[in-house]
Amino acid sequence: MKREIRKDTPINFEIAKKYIENYNPRNISLGNTRIISKIVDNIENETGEKFIRMEMGVPGIKPSEIGINAEINALKNNVAGIYPPVDGIPPLKKEMSRFVKLFLNIDIPTDNFVPTVGSLNGSYAAFMVTGKRIKDKNTILFIDPGFPVHKKLVRMLGFRQESFDVNNYRGKELRDKLEEKLSKGNITSLLYSNPNNPTWICFTEEELKIIAELSEKYNVIPIEDLAYFAMDFRKDYSHPGQAPYQPTIANYIDNYILLISGSKSFSYAGQRIGMLVISENLYKTPYPDLLDYYSNDAFGRALIYETIFLTTAGVPHSVQYGFAEILKAANDGQYAFVEDVKIYGEKAKIMKKLFIENGFKIVYDMDGDVPIADGFYFTVSFPGFTGDELSEILLYYGISSIPLTSTGSLRTEGIRACVSLVQKEQMPQLEKRLKLFYEDYK
Ligand SMILES: Cc1ncc(COP(=O)(O)O)c(C=O)c1O
Repeated sequence: MKREIRKDTPINFEIAKKYIENYNPRNISLGNTRIISKIVDNIENETGEKFIRMEMGVPGIKPSEIGINAEINALKNNVAGIYPPVDGIPPLKKEMSRFVKLFLNIDIPTDNFVPTVGSLNGSYAAFMVTGKRIKDKNTILFIDPGFPVHKKLVRMLGFRQESFDVNNYRGKELRDKLEEKLSKGNITSLLYSNPNNPTWICFTEEELKIIAELSEKYNVIPIEDLAYFAMDFRKDYSHPGQAPYQPTIANYIDNYILLISGSKSFSYAGQRIGMLVISENLYKTPYPDLLDYYSNDAFGRALIYETIFLTTAGVPHSVQYGFAEILKAANDGQYAFVEDVKIYGEKAKIMKKLFIENGFKIVYDMDGDVPIADGFYFTVSFPGFTGDELSEILLYYGISSIPLTSTGSLRTEGIRACVSLVQKEQMPQLEKRLKLFYEDYK
C-alpha cells in the first residue's frame, strides 16, 4: 500500500503492521475473510485490544431452543443410528412446503423440497444440474455484487461464468443489460441474493419481474438466493399467511429454484441446513442431455436423488428434526423468527450513522427511489481511499472489513461491513476509533 500510515494509531502500529505483512496484504485485497480474521485474531491476542469485527458474515444470535430440544429428542429416539432420507424426513418436507405457502404465498408440492447442508450445498447442486441440463448452455451468470464463494464453486465445477454489477443497471435499465447478457444463448442459470450480500440492496418487484421475463425468454433458470429471508426490515414479512410476503421471482416465472438458508434468519448456522425448492414445472422437465451424467433426465430427480445424494447423502437426521420443529413453530405463529434477528437492523442503523458522521459515505444506498434497509451488511467509502486501502488502514484503528471489489463490485472505493459480530456495547468504541480516523485523514 502506498499511503503513509500515522504511527500513533489506536492499535499498536508495529504489531498490526507485523501481522498484516506476515499474511500478505493481497489477502486483504482479495477479501479473504478467513485470513483477515486470522490477522485480527493475532493482533487482538498480542495487543489485548478488541476489534470492531465487521469482516465475516457469520450470524451472532443464540438459536431458539425449539430446534435444539427437537434434536435432543430425535437423538434419544435413536435417529443417529439410521440413515436420513436424502430428500428429507416427511415432517420437514411438510413444514418446508407450509413455510413457502405461508411466507411467500406460493404453492409447491412437498416432493419439490430438499433439505441441503446449508444453502451453499443447495447452490452447488443447482449449479451442477443447471450447468449440465443443455450442452450449449454452460455458463452461469451472477448478478453482482455477490457472495465470492459462489464464484469459486462454479469455477471448481468447471463451468463458465459471467457477471455484472447491478448498481449501474437498477430499475428499467436492468432489462437491456440482461437482454445483452442472455441473448447470446450461453447462459443456463443466473443467481442473485435478495437481500443482497454484500450491499443489502433488495430488488424491487419491477426488477424481479424483469429478471423473470428475460429468463423465460432465453430459457434461463433463475436461482434466487434467499439467505437473508424476511430480513428487509422496512417491510414486515413476519406474519404467516398474511401479506406482505417476502418478494420472490416465483410470482413471475414457472421455472426457478429458491434457496432458503437456516443460518441467518433462523440463527441455525452451526447445524448446516437450508432448503432447496424446485418449481413444479422445472422439477418435471426432462433434459435429455442430463443422461450423459445422470440416470434421470427429469431435472428434480437428477438434482435431489443423484446430485444431493452423491455429494452429502442428506442432511444429518437430528438436524432435519430440529429444523422441522423450527419451521413448524414459525408456520404456526409460535416462533417470531424475524423478531429475533431485527437486532441486526438496529445495529446497522447506529453503525451507519457513526460512519456517516465521521466522513464516510454509504456506497450502495438506494433501491429505486427508496433508501436501502438497515440489515446484516452495509457498504461505506471514505474520500480519497480505495476499498483495499481502507480495509487495510482501518485495521490499525481496530476495525476489520473486506473491500467491495472482492465481491464483484465495480465500486473500487468501497468496503463491506457486517454488523453481526459487533456488540451494542462496542458502539462508543467504534465512534471513538472512527473519530480518530477522521481527524487523521479528513
Ligand atoms: C448470499 C449468501 N448465500 C449463501 C450463503 C450460505 O449460507 P449457508 O450457511 O446456508 O450455507 C451465505 C452465507 O453467508 C450468503 O451470504
